[in-house]
Formats: sequence, C-alpha cells, structure tokens
Amino acid sequence: MAIFQIRGGQALRGTVRTSGRKNSAVAVLPAALLADGPVRLDNLPQILDVAVMVELLRTLGARVQADGAGTLWVDGAGTGAAIADARWAGRLRASYYLLGALLSRHGEADVPLPGGCDIGLRPIDQHLKGFAAMGAEVRIAHGMVSLRARQLRGAHIYLDVTSVGATINLMLAAARAQGVTVIENAAKEPHVVDVATQLLAMGASIIGAGTDVIKVRGVQRLHGCTHAIIPDEIEASTYLIAATATGGDVVVENLIPRHLEPVIAKLAEAGAVLEEGGDWVRVRGPRRCSAVHVKTQPYPGFPTDAQQPMTSLLTTALGTSTVTETIWDGRFRFVDELLRMGARVTVAGRTAVIESVTQLTGASVTATELRGAAALLLAGLMAQGASTLDAGQTLDRGYEAVEQKLAGLGADVQRLSAPPVYALPWGEAMHVGAAGWDGGAEHRR
Ligand code: EPU
Repeated sequence: MAIFQIRGGQALRGTVRTSGRKNSAVAVLPAALLADGPVRLDNLPQILDVAVMVELLRTLGARVQADGAGTLWVDGAGTGAAIADARWAGRLRASYYLLGALLSRHGEADVPLPGGCDIGLRPIDQHLKGFAAMGAEVRIAHGMVSLRARQLRGAHIYLDVTSVGATINLMLAAARAQGVTVIENAAKEPHVVDVATQLLAMGASIIGAGTDVIKVRGVQRLHGCTHAIIPDEIEASTYLIAATATGGDVVVENLIPRHLEPVIAKLAEAGAVLEEGGDWVRVRGPRRCSAVHVKTQPYPGFPTDAQQPMTSLLTTALGTSTVTETIWDGRFRFVDELLRMGARVTVAGRTAVIESVTQLTGASVTATELRGAAALLLAGLMAQGASTLDAGQTLDRGYEAVEQKLAGLGADVQRLSAPPVYALPWGEAMHVGAAGWDGGAEHRR
C-alpha cells in the first residue's frame, strides 16, 4: 500500500516532464496483438496499469520485451484467445481491449469482465452491441465475457453514448473484419487518434479518427510497426492545477498543448497566467484563485479525469464554484476526505458546490480511486501542516514517479511505504509479486 506524507504550503516551482499517456498505453499494448509481427512501442509510462496489461499479454502467450526505459516490443504470435485468471483482468478497466484485440486476431475471446476505478456504473454494453453487430455471438457467464465469430463483418454501429473504450474496441475488431465498419457518435479523445495512428502504421485502413464518425475498412493482415504514444494530458493537467493551486510557477514539458485547452482555459479563468510553446506550458498561479464553474464533457470538453484535482483547487478559490460531473456518477466520493481538511463542499446529485475557505488544513485521508488520490495529494500540497495520504495502489496506477516529480518542483512529499514494484522488464529491480503488487513472490518471465 502506498502511504504519502505531505507537508503543504510550498509554492511549486520548476520544470516537470510529462510521461506517456496511461489511457493510450493500455490500449496500444493490446492493439499490438493484431499484428503478424513484432510491434515496438515507445514512450510507455512506468505505472501499475501498464504493468498489469503487460502481465495480461504474457498470460495470453505474447512475448513482451524491453528495449530501454519506456520501450517494449510486443509479439502476439503464439497467443491464445482466453484469459482464465480473473485476478489480473479485474485489476484494470482496459482489460476490455483484449476483447476487441482477441476477437480480431482469433475470431474468439474469453476475457473476465473488467475492473478499474470505482467511480460509478461502468457498463460495456456499447462494446458488446458493436461486436454483435459485426457478427459475434456474445455470452456473459460466471463473470466472463465470451465472444465467437466465424467471420467478423463490417457493420454500421451507432454508439448510444460517446464511449472512449467502445470506440477503440470497435476499431480493433473492425481492423481485420471483412468489409467496412462505420462507428457513429464515436469518441474524439486524443488516445482514440493515437490508437488509430498505430493501427494505420500496422497497415490498417481507417479514416475519421478524432471526429465523431470513424470508418474502418478491414484488411486481411496487419504487420509490425514502431509507434510512440502521446503524452499524458491528465498527468500534465494535474501538475498545472497543482502549480496554480499553490501559487507556483511551473513549466510542464513534453506535452501537446492543444490537448490541454479546456484545462488551460479554466485555469486562466481562475486567475492563472499561462504561456505555451510547441511542447510545453508554463503556469503562474495567482495569490488566490477565483471561483469558476466547471462541467465535465467528452473531449474536447473539460476532462472528467482532471475534475477531481480541479475540485481541490477550487476549495480555496474566492467565491462559490460549482463542478458538474456528467460522465461518472461516483466521482465525488473523495469529497468526504476533503471535508476532513476543512473544505466546504456539498454534493447534490452530479454537482458539487464549493464554498471558499481561506486555507485547507493537513489531515489523514484515504483515497479509493486514482484521480481522487491525485486530488487529495494536491489538497495536501495546498494545506497548512502535514497530511498523510493512504493511496492504496491508486496513485501508482496512473502517475509515474509522482513523489520524485513533485520533489523536483520543491514539494515536501515523502513515500512512507516501500516503493511500488512493477512487472515491467525495464529494470532488474522491478518485479511484481504474483500475490500482490507490494512485494509478494517474484513473478517474471
Ligand atoms: N458507457 C456506457 N456503456 C458502455 C461504455 C460506456 O453506458 O458500453 C458510459 C459510461 O458509464 C460513462 C460514459 O459512457 O458514463 C463514458 O465511458 P467511456 O466508455 O468513455 O469510459 P471508459 O472507456 O470506461 C475511459 C478512461 C477513463 C475516462 C473515460 C472518459 C481508460 C482505460 N479509461 O474509460 O479514465 O474517465 O474514458 O474519458 O481509457 C482515468 O484515467 O482515471 C479514467 C477513469
């Protein structure tokens, strides 16, 4: 379990580099299984979710080898189509991408229902509706999703909700199907485009990724490629919000500023001064932020994954702010913990009303999911005095070397527990225990 001690009150200053995007990384790894040849993936973040996905690929029989920090070769030759062990698949949401990837490669897939952060109902009906439209027989029994298709056929699929996961999964299934698949009301998130870019480099035929209509013309074979994943705009947003909230002056490097526009716009509205260059954004926080109203939306709206850190920032902003969450129905659970730190927030349905307090005060708090953990860490940085954050395995799922990056900005954050152990083969010291992430029996292949 990861326990952090944070002594707040320091304005963050300096430069921090963004890692590769978590939600791309967990999609491009399964997408590599579609190729009849090795795929090289660069700029992968060293986080638990990537480690779990690597473990899942290896469980399936894929060869995954390191080639320097952040680079993996994935060879899907020799993979089977079934994951029998629910333990690994249940550890992250993105295990659902194995459904589309295995269905595409083998015409069948048996994958346990996915896990992931507890942020409200997370159905996968739109994924399954799309697979069925393409001719797959879909069965759910004993917590396992089973898909069977003699020949996947292109189909016209309208998504009833704009779903990132369903859009990517259906692109994977369609890439080697017979004929043309049209995905309407598709998600436009940059990682949808990132996966499409990788599939194109593998020889797929896709147009429209990044718009709400994507057309995929199936091809018989896909080949190996090299693909570098895009920077993590949620990680970058978290550092920009933290810098603003502490009245700091920080340059966040290695990012695509356009992907952060909704966050940049809201920070400016709250009183921050922002500058941007080709691959960096500098933020200078005001002495005290002003209240703003935030509503989460699918891209290019304000991202739900940055909502929680923004809520922490607004606890001390002058005036009354509102934050409305439209994507997930359980993303305000961390607010209870903010109250321990002196925040004045009430939640009614999907809206949090945040009344200003002059200062948060340090407290012992517990996070139950990834972005809630980031929000509480940020609240600790803003607070007067010391806080202890019990983050379980949440923060390490999505933030690479978070305490080192914050220390580089002058924050006083100590990890009191042992450092995380990863299945990634990027360092001999990084092993994941079969019994758990915190140092069980060594588990390497
Ligand atoms: N939805 C359905 N049916 C479906 C799929 C989704 O009703 O079949 C609903 C969901 O309940 C939700 C909305 O549609 O209300 C959007 O869900 P989406 O499918 O887009 O989310 P996801 O693919 O499960 C990904 C990210 C999340 C991020 C959301 C929204 C991954 C692995 N996860 O989830 O990331 O919040 O998109 O942008 O890519 C995070 O990084 O902290 C995180 C939770």
